[in-house]
Amino acid sequence: MKKISVLFVCLGNICRSPAAEAIFISLLEKKGLTDAFIIDSAGTGSWHVGKKADSRMRIAAERRDIKILSRARQITTKDFAEFNYILAMDDSNFSNIQDLKNRTLSTDFASIKKIQNFRSVYNEDEVPDPYFGGDEGFDHVLDILEDSVGGFLESIS
Ligand code: 4NP
Repeated sequence: MKKISVLFVCLGNICRSPAAEAIFISLLEKKGLTDAFIIDSAGTGSWHVGKKADSRMRIAAERRDIKILSRARQITTKDFAEFNYILAMDDSNFSNIQDLKNRTLSTDFASIKKIQNFRSVYNEDEVPDPYFGGDEGFDHVLDILEDSVGGFLESIS
């Protein structure tokens, strides 16, 4: 069976999208669905390419038994043909992804959505950027992503 591919995207690919990716991986493991998916994350920006996720996010996730193992990369035009779903963390990521898509020649486009379209418990329409804030911001990002990433999985299964 063809695998379903999902790319989570934020600005730097060191805080929100690696957390979303790790939460999704953890959910799939719990449900025995790992083999049915290809999962990755990327940033619209290139500043942190090659770096591990922000240690504050890795520590906050570890407290929930979620391991963030990704290394940052930047989204490319190839991703539109390679992923079924591209999930943006906020409006700015979403419009940057759309701009990039409009500059690609491929017609095989992924479905591009905001992850908060799949929220149910938390009512924020964007995943807030925790990078310049305090430690509690990282926990809040994990709370809202556990809700919306779970909602996304339900929506496609
Ligand atoms: P992310 O957070 O988009 O959730 O990875 C950020 C990380 C770094 C920067 C901004 C946001 N930065 O400006 O370096």
